[in-house]
Amino acid sequence: MNLSNQTTVLHVSDTHMSPDFRAGTDMWTAVVRYVERARPDLVIHTGDVIHDEPDNERDYEFAAFQMRRLTTPWRIVPGNHDIGDSDPDPYHGLITDERLARFRHHFGTDRWSLTIGDWQLIGLNSLLFDNRLATEEAEQWDWLEERMSESNGRPVGLFMHKPPSINSLDEDLYVNKAVGLKARARLLKLAESGAVKLIGSGHLHEHVVLLSKGALLVGAPAVGPLPAGKASLHLGLRCNGIVEYRLSGDAVRVRLLQEADLGIRSVT
Ligand SMILES: [Fe+2]
Ligand SMILES: [Fe+2]
Repeated sequence: MNLSNQTTVLHVSDTHMSPDFRAGTDMWTAVVRYVERARPDLVIHTGDVIHDEPDNERDYEFAAFQMRRLTTPWRIVPGNHDIGDSDPDPYHGLITDERLARFRHHFGTDRWSLTIGDWQLIGLNSLLFDNRLATEEAEQWDWLEERMSESNGRPVGLFMHKPPSINSLDEDLYVNKAVGLKARARLLKLAESGAVKLIGSGHLHEHVVLLSKGALLVGAPAVGPLPAGKASLHLGLRCNGIVEYRLSGDAVRVRLLQEADLGIRSVT
């Protein structure tokens, strides 16, 4: 691991992998090869690692194998396609204990904390927020409080599947695209306290960079599902790609890496 103060982290998301879904897997192979060349300190996957259906054991086996191709340290948090969704309008139903157990069986843990360079990076299971597994959610908030208290003034970066908000951490918009209002209020407090400097997420399949209440909110695009040349602007840039962070002191540099940056000319 790089022990200098500058740390490089690659943020990948929404790989939606399945043995039956070739486009995503082809681009994943390009990401694996890029990681071999670039040697980042850490790769973070912010969920929707499996193609679509949370109870598909075959896709789980495949996606877990694909993650083990990475040759640098990596961590992952679950997405709604991995363990079930949250309200409103949960796609494939709400999170269940069984689905959470399946994710933990394949990937070990759905939350984690790492000290890396000058930063504390913390992965959270955003599908627990304002959802039906209240005990699991309470345990995660307690766990987060402990991790925050151990950060000793280091800047903290949080990583989760659903974005904390669409535009601003203090908005009261309640939509399936972002976390619920109670969880957002708690994340807002953490940003306003000055402790949390970065929140990285996925789920929207769009690259977004916003500054809100002192925290940089970064959405990673999906890896792979779009046909070549089909990038377009929605809330952010809908494209295939990954995000690179260079962390030094309390500064963050953010760079979007698309197909050409990853060494591929087209995705079919
Ligand atoms: Fe997704
Ligand atoms: Fe998602």
